[in-house]
Amino acid sequence: MSETTKINDVMTLERVGKVGLICIDNPPVNASGQAVRQGLVDAVAAANADAGIEVIAIYAAGRTFVAGADIKEFGKTPLEPSLPDTINAIEASEKPVISAPHGTALGGGLEICMGTHARVGVKGLRVGLPEVNLGLLPGASGTQRGPRLMGMKNTLDMALSGRQVSGEEALSMGLIDGLEAGEPRDVALAAAEDVLSGKLKTRRTSDLGVELDEAALDDAAKMVAKKMKHHPTAPNMIEAVRMSTGPMADGMAYERKSFMEGLKDPASQGMRHAFFAERAVSKIPEGKATPREIAKIGVIGGGTMGSGIATAALTSGFAVRLIEISQEGLDKGVGFITGNLGGAVKRGKMSEAKRDNAMARLEPSTDMESLSDVDLVIEAVFENMDVKKDIFGQLDKICKPGAILASNTSYLDINEIASATSRPEDVIGLHFFSPANLMRLLEVVVADKTAPEVVATGFALAKKMKKVGVRAGVCDGFIGNRILAYYGKTAGYLMEDGASPQQIDNALEDFGFAMGPYKVGDLAGLDIGWANRKRMSATRPNDERYVRIHDKICEEGMFGRKTGSGFYIYDDEGIRPNPRALEIIDAERAAKGILPKTFTDEEIVERYMTAMISEAARVVEEGIALRPIDVDAVFLFGYGFPRFRGGPLHYADTIGAKELVARIERYAEDDAYYWKVPAILRRMAEDGTTFADLNKEG
Ligand code: 3HC
Repeated sequence: MSETTKINDVMTLERVGKVGLICIDNPPVNASGQAVRQGLVDAVAAANADAGIEVIAIYAAGRTFVAGADIKEFGKTPLEPSLPDTINAIEASEKPVISAPHGTALGGGLEICMGTHARVGVKGLRVGLPEVNLGLLPGASGTQRGPRLMGMKNTLDMALSGRQVSGEEALSMGLIDGLEAGEPRDVALAAAEDVLSGKLKTRRTSDLGVELDEAALDDAAKMVAKKMKHHPTAPNMIEAVRMSTGPMADGMAYERKSFMEGLKDPASQGMRHAFFAERAVSKIPEGKATPREIAKIGVIGGGTMGSGIATAALTSGFAVRLIEISQEGLDKGVGFITGNLGGAVKRGKMSEAKRDNAMARLEPSTDMESLSDVDLVIEAVFENMDVKKDIFGQLDKICKPGAILASNTSYLDINEIASATSRPEDVIGLHFFSPANLMRLLEVVVADKTAPEVVATGFALAKKMKKVGVRAGVCDGFIGNRILAYYGKTAGYLMEDGASPQQIDNALEDFGFAMGPYKVGDLAGLDIGWANRKRMSATRPNDERYVRIHDKICEEGMFGRKTGSGFYIYDDEGIRPNPRALEIIDAERAAKGILPKTFTDEEIVERYMTAMISEAARVVEEGIALRPIDVDAVFLFGYGFPRFRGGPLHYADTIGAKELVARIERYAEDDAYYWKVPAILRRMAEDGTTFADLNKEG
């Protein structure tokens, strides 16, 4: 006989024989918000007060155990009881308390488990300390109870990487005491009965000792100094773990203080914004439409892009028909895919069996007609409107009714491409980023006539491919490349006016970009932008200042990494500035009568970022992006924007619209054609609103 008491809206206590089962039920991910914390304290107290209960077991309902603290409460007035106090109350229970986590036990969720007297995971469990991804350190004793259970090295590894660890690995590290298959309630009950029978031992984690591991602390300090210099709390994490050899209360006090300081740090705010950006972008007007079924995908083009897309599709379980005109091109494409998948196996991201299974779903062909049975075609040939229209005209005749016809174009007008078919409602842009098997961004470009369920299918595809789909309207370059084309000019102006490509790259890398714009250009291939500028040259306004340096470098066959030189030289000696590129820059300055000026790194960053923000503001104003947070997601997941800065428009809010308008007006004194204040920014400066306010309006 069982008897269930409701503790509060998210918690019940069920008595089954001598076991008190506490069930947390706070959908969607059982985040440990105030009600969960209060419920746990009250449920443990109620179970202790119930003379019939001898062992208490905590489990959760729904798809996962507690996914951590409730991130939506961050930044608001803290509500009692705090999570550390809640966990201390669990540990202080006179009756043994065990936990049976399933799904994911992350951050505060894992810390709750650490505070119980034994842990038996449900098979399939993954555990982690992902606070680091939010600019934080574990804030509810993870840095103290972690070392007591699994040692300093494992704790530092988990807390500094944020990686999810399998239940099996957690068991081998001593973080959990058992791993059983079954429903969470059944596993919890069986484990509690094991405690009753003496089969499962319980103990308080805080009673355990910690062995000082100087080597692990040193290695962590070196890694943080090298790779995490912008992280606000990583050094505190190491210090907190070091303190775990001392009294628990001291370590917890230090950890809590660092956590609360971290919450206020702009870098943590940026990282939390990035967390929500990744999820917010899936909220689209077409969200209620039913996506079409996709099983087989056709990819046209076996170059770097096409084979990257094919790799991503194969990895996500789709069948892929890869089309190239010539057998030679096709063989090359298959070679790229084989290499990509082989690389994933080498990096431990994929098993050999999964690779073989993926390759078995690849059907290479030189016959366009073979696309008659695919559910979706993604065209990834070179950027030429006539070629694309010709392909879409053919697809219109070949593909079955209801098949989705997508272009991976980076710039071109999807409406015009759709006009080559008799079914524009099935045509969409699916703009992947190179390397498409690794980069997470997917711009879903919605043309005038694209049907809502086709848009919904684009987003379903992004989800299945574990990509971040962002809805974009049609314009030259959509969201990302349009903004890039604009601020790329600023970098060019700075260079022509006196800054070296290396100074610009270094300044922006110090700001937090993984790579400066000239290194990125060299990596992507300078010829790509060159081709685009040639395409645009006929319509380029006469008043626009035009920097010819890139074109001159390309004219000498220097396209970047792939040719061994561009703005930099790439050879066996590594990477270094290309003297020939510097000569070209000097010659261009001389030809235009420009006396080189000196710029500080701050000036470089200020101009570059102001340019990026102003074009981003226009993209929002014109409805090309649904919300400012969509632009942020594009830059975070497609352009190496520093996560701790949250994205260009989150960063813009940290500067403020008034200051941005003042900057643009100041720059416009030299170049009024290029620097114009976007109407939206002027309005925000006047009424004191922010991009965050626009995000809330949706
Ligand atoms: N707090 C508040 N909301 C959360 C949340 C959290 N910790 N975790 C997820 N959510 C929300 C998401 O925003 C999303 O909301 P939406 O539907 O309104 O967009 C919803 O829950 C579902 O989340 P996902 O779409 O991410 O669902 P998935 O099934 O794909 O993934 C997950 C589930 C693996 C748990 C993933 O949500 C995740 O990684 N969550 C964050 C985990 C985390 O960072 N925890 C640490 C928090 S900090 C902490 O614990 C501090 C402590 O040490 C004191």
